[in-house]
Amino acid sequence: VHIDWDEQAAEKGGYDHFMLKEINEQPEALKAAITGRIKNGEPVISEINNIEEFIKNNLKKIFIVACGTSYHAGLTFKYFMNRYSKIDVDIEVASEFRYMNPHVDENTLVVAISQSGETIDTLEGIRIAKEKGAKVITISNVYGSTIPRESHGAIYMNTGPEIGVAATKTYTAQIAILYALGAKIIELTEGLNEEIRGILKGIEKMPEIYKEVLKLNEKIKELAREYVKYQHMMYIGRGFGYPTALEGALKLKEISYIHAAGYQAGELKHGPIALLDEQFPVFAIIPKDSLYEKMKSNLMESRARNANIIAITTKGNEEIKQLANEYIMVPETHEALYPLVMAPVIQLFSYNVAVLRKLDPDKPRNLAKSVTVE
Ligand code: G6P
Repeated sequence: VHIDWDEQAAEKGGYDHFMLKEINEQPEALKAAITGRIKNGEPVISEINNIEEFIKNNLKKIFIVACGTSYHAGLTFKYFMNRYSKIDVDIEVASEFRYMNPHVDENTLVVAISQSGETIDTLEGIRIAKEKGAKVITISNVYGSTIPRESHGAIYMNTGPEIGVAATKTYTAQIAILYALGAKIIELTEGLNEEIRGILKGIEKMPEIYKEVLKLNEKIKELAREYVKYQHMMYIGRGFGYPTALEGALKLKEISYIHAAGYQAGELKHGPIALLDEQFPVFAIIPKDSLYEKMKSNLMESRARNANIIAITTKGNEEIKQLANEYIMVPETHEALYPLVMAPVIQLFSYNVAVLRKLDPDKPRNLAKSVTVE
């Protein structure tokens, strides 16, 4: 008897690509990431026990340092901390941070985010921060990798290995852990409130919500078929939707080789809107949140330039049918949790476009999973 044994196919668990497998693993990956770290709305981050006194007594500033998708998780964290704490939060991509004069000192907590734990720019960034006296906490997915080893504390994501070059399940795990870390810092400094506990409870429900979101793939595939013909795509969002727009654009670029830009929707009028026409569609991150009305105006401006619009919005928002050419609806959640709920949608969109273009989403050209040289 001849048995065709393809080890790679077996590892992919029946999926065509690791990227698709890893997108679909997000219910379990997120659950693993928060297990023991969020309990009924309470943050438990034992990895920072050794710097709790520092956080209580000295912490004046948080500086986030990361690259690529990890940077977008960091930017989401910045919006969270900005809204829920009084602590000053700054963020910089590591390749800039390491060559600037970063204002960090012994009252600063540097939060480094690196899936691989080996990205050279992030590593050099934390070395500089430590020289300046800052405390460093790293969020990583690889046990014993260099950046967590050189940090004062390491929070491992526990999602299991990520093989696809484009980060997917580790991105959502990062956001969930960063929110738990942020809540812990707020608890130690200003005290938690019910809203923050509610957000953490929402994260605990996310694995179930993800099962529903992942069912949108058929609809997303249809959209991909329509939009694969375009050479450009403009992703726009506001507030918590802005980092999602950046991540959507990055995913499309890296996997599908379609030129994509991510902008704060309010910046359209300062330049990017000049690009829009029937050949340049818009991908709008427009949940029913506090900035919904503002996003609506941006959609109308884009439509007036004949741009086709795909909108991701909240279930039940019937008005979107008048505002956008195409729409995808995700379950309603807290404003701060839309970055988590919407992530699989932007990931699946770029995945499907890449497959339609006959590209290998697991091995995009010119890119590496871990960038250990400058
Ligand atoms: C590479 C990968 C990206 C990743 C970035 C940062 O560019 O292709 O997917 O987001 O590095 O990697 P890190 O391991 O530091 O999170």
